[in-house]
Amino acid sequence: MGCSSCHDNLDVSKVPHLNRGHFAKGLRAEVPALCISCHEQALFEGPMVHAPVSTGLCLDCHNPHASDYQGLLKMKPASLCLDCHPDIEKSDHLISGLSTKGHPLGNQTDAAPDPKRPGKMFYCASCHEPHRSTLPKLTRYGIGMTSCQTCHEK
Ligand code: HEC
Ligand code: HEC
Ligand code: HEC
Ligand code: HEC
Ligand code: HEC
Ligand code: HEC
Repeated sequence: MGCSSCHDNLDVSKVPHLNRGHFAKGLRAEVPALCISCHEQALFEGPMVHAPVSTGLCLDCHNPHASDYQGLLKMKPASLCLDCHPDIEKSDHLISGLSTKGHPLGNQTDAAPDPKRPGKMFYCASCHEPHRSTLPKLTRYGIGMTSCQTCHEK
């Protein structure tokens, strides 16, 4: 995408560039309005919205330009979530009496592929919606035992 799709108020004939607009860095609008001018607002609304999303902190999780990680994330996907939810790593997140290892969280080096999202690695956001959900605990498939069957056979 061209720089000017977001920075359209810069006079680049001068260095440092002159900002002709109302927003920092010559941006066309502020975050999150800038992002929502291209991405559907419905992605970020609902009965349960993730706290950093409802406060418009898109850039706490995403790099607007480029990233080494899927989804333009700022850091290794599971590390991003654990940065704000450190207790989850210490907890037995989803052991459910079926395994002594607990559920893989995507923070190991050899993360499994996500069975439901082709091309993506398996981590927190395989089970949780990162932005908003109609289901409890921001889940994608719910919290009951039947939700497990989305990915595991009975
Ligand atoms: C999708 C929108 C978008 C596009 C396209 C975009 N930028 Fe940005 N850019 C931003 C946002 C948002 C920020 C503010 C980042 C912040 O405040 O952390 C930013 C900040 C910057 C900064 C300030 C340094 C920094 O990282 O905060 C520079 C320099 C910059 N952009 C250059 C570019 C160039 C060069 C291009 C084209 C190759 C470009 N941008 C394309 C959204 C964009
Ligand atoms: C000028 C239009 C435009 C703006 C403004 C814009 N985006 Fe995007 N964005 C796109 C397009 C086009 C794509 C690629 C197609 C797609 O995945 O929808 C994309 C893709 C993405 C992706 C998905 C990358 C992936 O690999 O799945 C993320 C995350 C994203 N943008 C975040 C942001 C954030 C955060 C902002 C605000 C700082 C922003 N975008 C502003 C047009 C825009
Ligand atoms: C708490 C972290 C977090 C915040 C805050 C956040 N996102 Fe995301 N976003 C994610 C994650 C995680 C994904 C999924 C990445 C993956 O695994 O592909 C994602 C995916 C996306 C995508 C790709 C389409 C999709 O829904 O999967 C877009 C576009 C996007 N985010 C834009 C935004 C915008 C705009 C904001 C601010 C209104 C925002 N995000 C705030 C974490 C966040
Ligand atoms: C910038 C900090 C931040 C990041 C990054 C972040 N979260 Fe959150 N998250 C919060 C806050 C704040 C809350 C609301 C307070 C709480 O319940 O802990 C929350 C709430 C949640 C909840 C709901 C808890 C409940 O009781 O309903 C889930 C689930 C969750 N986050 C998962 C994730 C996942 C998955 C990721 C990575 C994609 C992530 N978070 C990344 C800050 C963050
Ligand atoms: C296999 C699916 C799955 C994975 C992977 C997963 N979660 Fe969860 N998570 C759930 C379910 C289901 C619940 C609700 C039931 C529960 O509290 O045990 C939940 C609950 C939560 C809660 C709320 C905890 C509370 O006490 O209310 C947070 C926060 C959370 N997860 C964050 C994460 C983070 C961060 C990761 C990645 C490091 C992650 N989850 C990985 C399925 C998953
Ligand atoms: C979004 C898909 C998904 C959902 C939903 C899901 N899982 Fe998993 N589960 C996986 C993946 C991927 C693995 C790792 C498989 C591998 O490493 O080959 C796994 C591994 C496991 C393991 C094995 C851990 C070990 O010992 O190695 C158990 C037990 C497990 N899941 C239980 C559950 C339970 C219980 C639920 C419901 C609460 C659930 N899973 C929901 C995808 C999922």
